[in-house]
Amino acid sequence: MANQSNPVKKVPIHLQSSQNRILIKNGKIVNADKMYDSDVYIEDGIIKMVGCNLIIPGGTRVIDASSMLVMPGGIDPHTHLELEFMGAVSVDDFYQGTKAAIAGGTTMIIDFVLPSKGESLLDAYHKWRTRATNKVCCDYALHIGVTSWSDEVKREMEELCKLHGINSFKMFMAYKGVFMVTDSELYNSFEACKELGAIPMVHAENGDIVFENTKRLLKSGINGPDGHALSRPEEVEAEAVNRACTLSNQVQLYSDKNNFSMSRCPGDQVGSPLYVVHVMSKTAAEVLAKHRVEQIKQNGNTKIFGETLAAAVGTHWDENKLTCWHDAAAHVLSPPLRADPDTPNFLLNMLASDKLQTTGSDNATFNKEQKSLGKGDFTKIPNGVNGVEDRMSVIWEKGVVSGIFDPCRFVAITSTNAAKIFNIYPRKGCIDVGSDADIVVWNPKGKRIISAKTHHQAVDYNIFEGMECNGIPEYVLVGGRVCVDEGQLKVVQGHGKYVPTPTHSEFVYNNEKVSEIEVIDGSKDIKELKELKLQISPPS
Ligand code: URP
Ligand code: ZN
Ligand code: ZN
Ligand code: ZN
Repeated sequence: MANQSNPVKKVPIHLQSSQNRILIKNGKIVNADKMYDSDVYIEDGIIKMVGCNLIIPGGTRVIDASSMLVMPGGIDPHTHLELEFMGAVSVDDFYQGTKAAIAGGTTMIIDFVLPSKGESLLDAYHKWRTRATNKVCCDYALHIGVTSWSDEVKREMEELCKLHGINSFKMFMAYKGVFMVTDSELYNSFEACKELGAIPMVHAENGDIVFENTKRLLKSGINGPDGHALSRPEEVEAEAVNRACTLSNQVQLYSDKNNFSMSRCPGDQVGSPLYVVHVMSKTAAEVLAKHRVEQIKQNGNTKIFGETLAAAVGTHWDENKLTCWHDAAAHVLSPPLRADPDTPNFLLNMLASDKLQTTGSDNATFNKEQKSLGKGDFTKIPNGVNGVEDRMSVIWEKGVVSGIFDPCRFVAITSTNAAKIFNIYPRKGCIDVGSDADIVVWNPKGKRIISAKTHHQAVDYNIFEGMECNGIPEYVLVGGRVCVDEGQLKVVQGHGKYVPTPTHSEFVYNNEKVSEIEVIDGSKDIKELKELKLQISPPS
């Protein structure tokens, strides 16, 4: 309410207009399903009109997108900003990380809340919201880690879904003693997710075997960064992917729980959904694809989804290049980069053929000094690499410029599919009337060379150092605000909002009804989201 003695002054409409009204002219719109020439008119952060010869109010700022592509801003479904992990805190915080994201054409991130074993999920969620809220330059949503199991964890999962806009939970099959859960805990969490209409995500590596391999390697004197990948070979990842798929298939819920019989109720679907994060190897991707095909054969559809990383398609573990301890340590993440040089192209082809659906960065950045915690013992090297800034350019270069997929598929795997899976489509992930004006105007003729010297991230290393990228974000609009303007970065700290993710994603749960959401926290956002969904029909 305006104070009587100090009334709020309204900015005259004609002065507001240059900020609130933008016309992107002469560009080619690229959505996941089609590409066409059209202009886009934006008002107050929302796309208001899409078409040619639009009649627009005077004073509108016009951006000339001739010879450029107008695409939905990237959605990075996998970041770890200011994460406390392995005795260090990742150096890209919610300000620096989202600023860098925008510089690269990403306009939304989904970060992971990772409670320590036994910590309240709700407390951890509130901790993350507090960390992020005044810092984020772009919108963000959250996934929650389930690192132990109890009735209380299940109750908190329900509260998070019903009151706090959460629809996804990550379980770890690795990091024994820290985040790792047992198979029965995994099964219980899958079952709870299905009950709630949420999406279970897994970090798929056999943590027990990694633990045994590590003991053996250290005993035999292998303690450098190369020991990290040796302790977690491809089949250790593939086995865990297979197990996660199998366990998710075993989940069976019955509509009438009081009358528990072995006959399925009509409409009940066997199996919980499953989203495998950071698929890093050929074998693991093949196993995932096999399970998807089996489900499609049985049910006509699949609820299994796979994500790979910019790191996995942009580079590999090259022992001839990674001879210096620090270079090698900077490339340590889990699951590891693979030594097989065919891995990046293989994964790119899996993305092209919808055997994998999304690309994340898994941005978890640690400086040289922090990585040095692992000198003499690779198990103490904080795991994680950069990517939040370069994900879009790397995937464009390796996927589109190299001819493996077209710009529509690029949009699908960098933005639309994540929006659909995490149930924020069509608010996010497409250029259409009613969607948020999170837009990247991509200049396919622009060039840049990736380097730690010029990147906007806080971290002192870049795993893509020296890569030439043909394609750059010329303009990036975040909620209608021009945050990259002719290549110049102009972010606003705290401009981003928390985006609640409603349960029962249609894309995942195949037309199951959206449950009534009782809202306390983030209520406005959820209501807006619901209204948007009613107003907007998906593009035909
Ligand atoms: O090495 C990684 N991936 N660090 C971040 C934590 C995780 O497992 O995603
Ligand atoms: Zn609460
Ligand atoms: Zn992980
Ligand atoms: Zn991660």
